[in-house]
Amino acid sequence: MSTETTVRADEAGDVTNGEVADVDVTTFAIADIRSHARQIAHGDTVVVFDTTLRDGEQSPGATLNTQEKLDIAQQLARLGVDIMEAGFPAASPGDLDAVRQIANTIGRNARLDKNGQTVAPPIIAGLARANKNDIDKAWEAVQGAVRPRIHTFLATSDIHMEHKLRMSRDDVLETVGDMVQYAASLCQDVEFSPEDAGRSDPAFLVKVLEVAIKAGATTLNIPDTVGYTTPEEYGALIQHLRQNVPGGKDVIFSLHCHNDLGLATANTLAGIKAGARQIEVTINGIGERAGNTSLEETVMALHTRKPVYGLETNVVTTELHRASDMVSRYTGIVIQPNKAIVGANAFAHEAGIHQDGMLKHKRTYEIMDASTIGLHQSKLVLGKHSGRHALQRKLEEMGYHLERDELQEIFKRFKELADKKKTVSDADLEALVGDELYQPVETWELLNIQVQCGSQVIPTAVVTLRNNTTGATVTDAGFGTGPVDAIYQGINRIIGVENTLVEFLVQAVTEGIDANGDVTIRIEVPDSRGYSETAQGRPRRRLFSGRGVDTDILVASAKAYMQALNKLLSTLNSESSSVAITA
Ligand code: KIV
Ligand code: ZN
Repeated sequence: MSTETTVRADEAGDVTNGEVADVDVTTFAIADIRSHARQIAHGDTVVVFDTTLRDGEQSPGATLNTQEKLDIAQQLARLGVDIMEAGFPAASPGDLDAVRQIANTIGRNARLDKNGQTVAPPIIAGLARANKNDIDKAWEAVQGAVRPRIHTFLATSDIHMEHKLRMSRDDVLETVGDMVQYAASLCQDVEFSPEDAGRSDPAFLVKVLEVAIKAGATTLNIPDTVGYTTPEEYGALIQHLRQNVPGGKDVIFSLHCHNDLGLATANTLAGIKAGARQIEVTINGIGERAGNTSLEETVMALHTRKPVYGLETNVVTTELHRASDMVSRYTGIVIQPNKAIVGANAFAHEAGIHQDGMLKHKRTYEIMDASTIGLHQSKLVLGKHSGRHALQRKLEEMGYHLERDELQEIFKRFKELADKKKTVSDADLEALVGDELYQPVETWELLNIQVQCGSQVIPTAVVTLRNNTTGATVTDAGFGTGPVDAIYQGINRIIGVENTLVEFLVQAVTEGIDANGDVTIRIEVPDSRGYSETAQGRPRRRLFSGRGVDTDILVASAKAYMQALNKLLSTLNSESSSVAITA
């Protein structure tokens, strides 16, 4: 699917948000980066730097292919993030290519907001370690954007300098000066991060940041890389740096917190109180280990508690739910039901235990409207007598504007579901639409499965698949320890790609025996590329996720496996072609 075809309606029913504006985008290039930074540093807007596609993608198992990255980037633009860190281009030719494609498309599109106003394309940032090769690759990837940024980093804590970098403080100061200057010679917008700032000596940090500013950095990011600090400490550190770094008043201080102690959002809010005006966040809080600060939590805290902070963001909050759902589907990282803002139970009191109080006065238990994050309580209830037009209206009410053939497919599946269930809920429809639209290129398509299992039989599955490249239809059978294993063995016999199933999760979309089953799986493949590591040099596992929805959980399991395998196949294909291009 192209996400250009789905536009979320805002509360007033306006649908312009996210549409590409027909204007000369070059007029949005930043003329003078220093005055731009000064304006933000002294202003009342907190700029949102989304790193879902870089730090978020470093979550164990969150491998995204290029098309998925482009879809997410598109949604992030619609969400109104000011800067998106599109990746770590030096990691691999595939990563570089994905960042380049984002810079050349999303980074060159001005958009209309929900009021029809033209909005500048987001700044597209590429991450680089503090060396020339990484910086060259980052520049190669982002230079097509109207507003490109190079984000370079070097660790400054004693433990990192001694054991990881094996560099002295003087070496670090010299490298920061040289590499920031080098980055600034290529790209006027340079951000510098002293990695592990949360555990660095504040006096040394002051010196490092002074050097970075002198060398041309206009954004100074202060990472709490290992999620060690408390809100009081992190807020005090930001205040100390803003007051003591020469030139610090006129550059943007940025916050980058990890959630190892569950304090990332609290730390980020403390940093904002201390005067920082950029936040580095991810959708659903995904990221290394326990993750990064969650975009939706921080933005909704600023929005809901405006009198406390007195600050704005440019985020279109009605796009939050859609962004969260898309990131969860594509990464295979399921959102815990009690997750703030976007968890399935975050607004569940509307139908649950607090109903009485809610009916008497909405605000007794509700501090935010579900519609503010794009969750619409629909008036239309669909059942088996509902026609295509009613379905279309309902989907539009939910914010989905589908192409004819997409609607046709969803209608077919809606009818099948409505035959099995009395009423089809919003959650069912969200699951169906997601299942239908967020599909990778399907090299292999599932046509049919037939399963035999029980207490006295060896579970057996007959599987029929079509190869969409050759047009061939292939049937084979598999035996397994259970019905799902039998299906997967049958599929393996046809597709023949070595992999290990490392995660299998079944959830019910709604309550009741007739609920849709939603299956999420992850498969792992051996890595022979030799460059699969994060920006911090940690090895990455090669995992691919898949998700399938059906009232029959065996069919849902087969669909999830097919999706993961198709992602794996298209990634292998694109890798072999992108390596060939650069060779
Ligand atoms: O957590 C961290 O220190 C980072 C840097 C690369 C900014 O992600
Ligand atoms: Zn990080």
